[in-house]
Amino acid sequence: MPSAASRQEPVTERFAQHCFVQACRGLPHDRVPVWFMRQAGRSLPEYRAVRGSGSILDAIKDPDLATEITLQPVRRYGVDAAILFSDIVVPVHAVGFGVTVTPGVGPEVQHPFRSASDLQRLRPLDPETDTPYVLETVRLLVDELKVPLIGFAGAPFTVAAYLIEGRPSRDYLLAKSLMFNAEKLWHGLLDRLADLAIASLQSQVECGAVAVQLFDSWAGALSAEQYKRYVAPHSEKVFEALATSGVPRIHFGVNTSELLNLLAAVGADVVGIDWRVRIDDARARLGDAVALQGNLDPAAVVAGVGPALAGTREVLAANGGHPSHIFNLGHGVVPQCDPDVLSEVVRVVHDEGKVGSLTHAPQ
Ligand code: CP3
Repeated sequence: MPSAASRQEPVTERFAQHCFVQACRGLPHDRVPVWFMRQAGRSLPEYRAVRGSGSILDAIKDPDLATEITLQPVRRYGVDAAILFSDIVVPVHAVGFGVTVTPGVGPEVQHPFRSASDLQRLRPLDPETDTPYVLETVRLLVDELKVPLIGFAGAPFTVAAYLIEGRPSRDYLLAKSLMFNAEKLWHGLLDRLADLAIASLQSQVECGAVAVQLFDSWAGALSAEQYKRYVAPHSEKVFEALATSGVPRIHFGVNTSELLNLLAAVGADVVGIDWRVRIDDARARLGDAVALQGNLDPAAVVAGVGPALAGTREVLAANGGHPSHIFNLGHGVVPQCDPDVLSEVVRVVHDEGKVGSLTHAPQ
């Protein structure tokens, strides 16, 4: 059943003039949009109050709870976009690969991916039957939200890293060994993970997500040559599959200063950058064809209101009023962050973030 809101008007049209969508497209708008990766989560007392002690994967399976958690930061901060409360391991969990998320650690896999026979544990995802709770959450959110909803998926490389390593890793030695020693199997794995991401993202868009973000959080572990050979074809497949949907496609990774051109070239409309690269430097490298998202250091927010606002003003100044900017952190909000400091960051972005006149927009 289409929701009330989607019956009235396609949701992508409802938000076509919204500052977040306009900034993704590099089109004129009235204020610098701001949202935060991991804006929902343990930094919020209201999150801790409703979350309970079970697995995050169980919380995600409860559409009313997941909807409430998604809305909490939108209410508190007045951010310009919501991000679906879910996790990058939801599709692999849903097809029965055997993934859990351990609090304080992250995704853990009981039987990590080791050989060709493990490919059978990654059957295709049918979102309607495998993750109906995700679709229901998106539908509920679309009815509630006055700002665009961002859907997301984990990129093939970052999800593969978890499946092979079995837990968060610092050096990705197991994942890279498989990549170097068993290239055919590696591509077989990433191809299946690309298909899972495509199915998940397309279903989120069909239910009303207005933009999508592909999280390749750990791509910075790769050299440019490695990224091109082992990863780019698969992320490109994901972005190509989403091209016809018409929604802005955001591509994000950490420590990817040396990969920015490649992250854009696989088909992104927006590239997320961390704090290691200045926005104006990133724009000089990428040109005006893509928008940029970022890039305040989350540590500056933890440090307190002084460093957070100084950093916020530096980001705005480095952007220089360019319309193709979505303000965000360089990585996710950390649990130690004081929500009142983030509120101040939003206030300063909205009060002081000026969008200059457009001289370079696509005609
Ligand atoms: O607000 C949002 O951004 C939306 C929700 C969201 C979560 N995970 C919820 C979550 C998003 C976009 C993610 C993506 C995600 N998950 C990524 C990519 C983004 C990034 O941070 O680089 C990654 C690498 C994961 C894997 C993952 N899931 C980790 C590393 C953790 C943290 C483990 C911990 O407890 O410190 C999780 C769990 C998780 N996902 C939490 C949240 C709010 C916290 C745990 C909880 O509440 O139980």
